[in-house]
Amino acid sequence: MRKNLLSPSLLAADFSRLAEDIRNVEEAGAQYLHLDVMDGAFVPSISFGMPVIQSLRKNSNMTFDVHLMIEDPDRYLDEFAAIGADILTVHAEACTHLDRTIQKIHQLGKKAGVALNPATPLSVIEWVLPEVDMVLLMSVNPGFGGQKYIPYVTDKIRALRAMVDGRGLETDIEVDGGVSLANVSSVLEAGANVMVAGSAVFRGDAAENVKAFLEKLS
Ligand code: DX5
Ligand code: ZN
Repeated sequence: MRKNLLSPSLLAADFSRLAEDIRNVEEAGAQYLHLDVMDGAFVPSISFGMPVIQSLRKNSNMTFDVHLMIEDPDRYLDEFAAIGADILTVHAEACTHLDRTIQKIHQLGKKAGVALNPATPLSVIEWVLPEVDMVLLMSVNPGFGGQKYIPYVTDKIRALRAMVDGRGLETDIEVDGGVSLANVSSVLEAGANVMVAGSAVFRGDAAENVKAFLEKLS
């Protein structure tokens, strides 16, 4: 039986009180913490990097689910591994030698995720799928929190679930962007099992929101 997990995205938290925001979602039962690293090149905005993640590591036992929205992520994998990332997810669109990048993440003892932008076809990961621990399907164009879920991604989740199950794999399917309490059940039903939620968790009472998500995922 696959596990359904919640990965609150820190991008929507209050950056002046990160430790407190993290404690809230951890105590409420969130299993993963989604950390969005943006370089101002692969995506238009710049978020945060290693020093922030390194500091947060001391405050949390959650699985650090690091989403690298950066060009040529190979340059930084050693550092992200050393500061306590548990899952390193790279964008297929940002890697020239995706297979090599996945191998490198595994050599560093970390779980390897591959992210696909909404317009990127699943065929990009066809051959590497057995090597990947998690596929992240973007359900918004990456770069900003608080955007609207793109409806066609639900069919893409279904197609990926069929691909994973059809090949007898255990690959996690994560969905990121515009996931809310209103649509999480349909995302789950389509076959995703790791839900990223930024604004839907941190806008309002984060602990209450986490509990409400976990109820829908149980
Ligand atoms: C977008 C990021 C997301 C973002 C999700 O580029 O990868 O993780 O923080 O935020 P919401 O849930 O608000 O769409
Ligand atoms: Zn993300």
